[in-house]
Amino acid sequence: MPQKTVLITGATSGIGLETARALARQGWRVLLHGRTLERAEAAVAEIGTGTLVPLAAELSEQSAVRALAATVRRDHPRLDVLINNAGVWNSTRELTAEGIERTFAVNHLAYFLLTGLLQSHLQAGARVLCVASDSHEQMRGMHFDDLSLQGRYHGLRSYAQSKLANVLFCYEYERRCTNDTVICAIQPGLVQTDIGLKGNTWLHRLAWRVRRRMSGHKTAAQGAATSIFLATVADTPPSGLYWDDCRPKQSHSSSYSESEAARLWEESERLTGFTFTC
Ligand SMILES: NC(=O)c1ccc[n+]([C@@H]2O[C@H](COP(=O)([O-])OP(=O)(O)OC[C@H]3O[C@@H](n4cnc5c(N)ncnc54)[C@H](OP(=O)(O)O)[C@@H]3O)[C@@H](O)[C@H]2O)c1
Repeated sequence: MPQKTVLITGATSGIGLETARALARQGWRVLLHGRTLERAEAAVAEIGTGTLVPLAAELSEQSAVRALAATVRRDHPRLDVLINNAGVWNSTRELTAEGIERTFAVNHLAYFLLTGLLQSHLQAGARVLCVASDSHEQMRGMHFDDLSLQGRYHGLRSYAQSKLANVLFCYEYERRCTNDTVICAIQPGLVQTDIGLKGNTWLHRLAWRVRRRMSGHKTAAQGAATSIFLATVADTPPSGLYWDDCRPKQSHSSSYSESEAARLWEESERLTGFTFTC
């Protein structure tokens, strides 16, 4: 059996790092993405054993997403699993070079663009996993009139909107792409990572520290369980579902709107300048 290859974005900490560690232990070739090469190399050194390839891209920059996809296509002949995992939470509104609100750019547009750019490179029966969140339940729909939330920015709203976009994207992929790729949206649970400590206000960092201590939170390794399960389970999982604790579950009703999903797809193509071909 040829060695299986997985690309994991945001694998330098938290859920992504634990997913990379587990798959490397199971003998996979792990393309370990980090924001910078330094961070990716540090994660590779921390994991220590296995076939690990550090890759870098600042995912808020579409040119960097394109360069990452080109590197993967050039240097790695097969890709069995793509795990769109990198994510941010920003209390304060920031814009990318393309003028797009950063959370939306990293948490959704990078998933969309990277998945699209790697379509032709995915092996038969490949799996695309998108780490989403139950936070999407806070949204009744996308703010299509103001996706970058210029007039109504709040960290919670921005994050929840980006996570609703993850689920809408997976469901729309399943409707549009009649290939044999399996796509899954994942809710990892409440996980004790540092996501709420990066680049946020002191009040937000304090709130996140308090929240992390509350009971019911998973360790990062526990939070990675569904990603690891869906990457490795021998029986092909059903495509186009939302997963939690290694089982499919219903997502919020807003995520099943076909018109919202179709519009998001079109907006994502417009904002990335990329025509997604399945
Ligand atoms: N923790 C939770 O309770 C929870 C709950 C539901 C869903 N999630 C989702 O789980 C996923 C992983 O989050 P986590 O909790 O494990 O957080 P984390 O430890 O902060 O990991 C996030 C990863 O994404 C990378 N990243 C962030 N912004 C990036 C950018 N602009 N360019 C490139 N890489 C970037 C981070 O790199 P740096 O270290 O360089 O920032 C890090 O490797 C996210 O999609 C998150 O939304 C988490």
